[in-house]
Amino acid sequence: MDYRVVLLIGAFVIALFPGNAGAQEGDATAGATVFKKCATCHVADTDTNKVGPSLNKLFGRKAGTHPNFAYSAGMKAAGEGGLVWDETVLRDYLHNPKAKVKGTKMAFVGVKDDKEITDLIAYLKQYSQ
Ligand code: HEC
Repeated sequence: MDYRVVLLIGAFVIALFPGNAGAQEGDATAGATVFKKCATCHVADTDTNKVGPSLNKLFGRKAGTHPNFAYSAGMKAAGEGGLVWDETVLRDYLHNPKAKVKGTKMAFVGVKDDKEITDLIAYLKQYSQ
């Protein structure tokens, strides 16, 4: 194929998917709004436990291990079984908490919208360094 045709096709593909590379990046400001759904039970900026455990430094943390929180047997078992919070695991859990962690006492229907979860992850990452 003529290289100019190849360049043209390349330019066309880029034009079709503008900013596609950045599409995975969440918006932490929008995520702060999504976090309002969690904020009755969780904080992210400090170590304080409320109805739910603090979500400070969540990423890389084994499920059910935040100090001084009385987890359900289900959440502790999930952690002992190797569940560690990363983006993929959190996304699955938020889609349907009780399906991902059997016996969890987190009384929350979940978040269906993937964009909302992506933004929420960007928000939580700010407190996960
Ligand atoms: C009605 C209160 C409530 C709401 C709302 C809620 N959670 Fe929870 N969450 C809990 C409780 C209680 C637990 C502990 C679950 C257990 O021990 O089974 C928990 C556990 C978790 C865990 C596991 C943490 C760990 O240390 O292993 C994550 C992650 C989590 N919640 C994220 C969220 C996010 C994100 C939201 C908002 C989209 C949210 N939760 C909304 C009550 C809630």
